[in-house]
Amino acid sequence: MSSFTIFGGRALRGDAVCQGSKNSSLPILAASILSGGEIILENIPRLSDVDATLKILNYLGCKTKRENGAVVIDPSGISASDIPENLMREMRSSVIFLGAVLARTGRVELFSPGGCEIGLRPIDLHLEAIKKLGAEIIDAEGKIVCTAPEGLTGAVISLSFPSVGATENVMIASCLAHGRTEIRNAAREPEISDLADFLNAMGAKVSGAGESTVVIEGVKRLHSATHSVIPDRIAGATLLAAGAITGGVVRVNGLIPAHLAPVIDIFEQAGNEIEIKSDSVLLRAPKRLKSVKTVRTMPYPGFPTDIQPPIAAMLCKAEGTSVMIETIFESRYKYIGELIRFGAKVRVDGRMAVIDGAEKLYPANAVTPDLRGGAALVLAALSAAGESTITEIKHIDRGYENLERTLSAFSAEIKRTD
Ligand code: EPZ
Repeated sequence: MSSFTIFGGRALRGDAVCQGSKNSSLPILAASILSGGEIILENIPRLSDVDATLKILNYLGCKTKRENGAVVIDPSGISASDIPENLMREMRSSVIFLGAVLARTGRVELFSPGGCEIGLRPIDLHLEAIKKLGAEIIDAEGKIVCTAPEGLTGAVISLSFPSVGATENVMIASCLAHGRTEIRNAAREPEISDLADFLNAMGAKVSGAGESTVVIEGVKRLHSATHSVIPDRIAGATLLAAGAITGGVVRVNGLIPAHLAPVIDIFEQAGNEIEIKSDSVLLRAPKRLKSVKTVRTMPYPGFPTDIQPPIAAMLCKAEGTSVMIETIFESRYKYIGELIRFGAKVRVDGRMAVIDGAEKLYPANAVTPDLRGGAALVLAALSAAGESTITEIKHIDRGYENLERTLSAFSAEIKRTD
């Protein structure tokens, strides 16, 4: 069981580089199996979720390797069409293989991904859409088998919710379908546009990504491609929040500032001074952070649910009361119970968290409940003067590449113990 020991209480200062996007890497790695040739992917972060995805690619029969900082995939040896339960359990977002394996082999078998720490995470929208594309679906005893022996047929898919994963699965599945697919009420996250760029680099015909209607014209085959995934806007915003909660001055380089617009607005409302350059954001924290009346998580381009926990941690140090409303996931406040160990004053009522800012936070020993909740606890520990420990950091390693090394760039005192 790995843990962080953090000696906090000092203002963080310095420059860090933002990692590649986890939530771009996973669907792009899955989609690479559609290619008839070698795929080279750059800026793929070193994360346990990426490792789990590479394990699935290997299980399916692809060759994968890391070479000169890139991930190289040879999908020519695809020989399986099922995702084993142990690999599904290792990473529930492996549901993103559904569209890719079905489009490539005409069949896919996977276990219901089940919930995770932040919610039930149903996949009804994925399955309804794939059925519209002409797949036969048998969903029984926790196992899902989709077949389309004659291939898939383009259709108009209206999503009742702009689900990121469902949008991605339909984009990937319909690349090789017969005819035109139109996704209405599509997710608009930057990772959707990045996936479209990758699919088009392989010879697909995807247009409208980033808007609410995405159109995919099916093609016969896809070819090799090289692609560099976008920076991770959530990891970048988490690093900026570390500067804010410790009263420091931090710059995060290798970002696409436009992707952080809704978070930058909240940083500024909390009194941080923000300086934006073409690929970096500098944050200068005020002496005392100001509370933010209401922060509501929404689909992009709204305030992202994934940065809700780190921003809630920052607001625990603000003067006054802030209200956070989590509209995307039904149980994304598990970390609050651990945050309170640091002296945070937070009340949770359903989807609402009421945060009464405190002058100081105190060192504590906390347990990481989930990926982004873990990041929030690290921020609280960085702000508390003295020594804190955070255990179960395997959750953090799912989405933050070597967080202790990155934070050490801000001269944070953080040590990993395995
Ligand atoms: C992606 O999850 C991200 N994961 C999540 O990041 C992110 O929080 C989420 O999008 C929202 O931005 C990856 O990209 C790997 P959704 P996804 O489908 O695709 C409901 C992180 O910390 N829903 O947009 O699963 C669902 O229950 C992770 O990096 C259905 O009801 O998100 C949720 O309430 C956490 N039925 C809401 O929609 C469905 O078929 C949003 O889910 C699908 C989703």
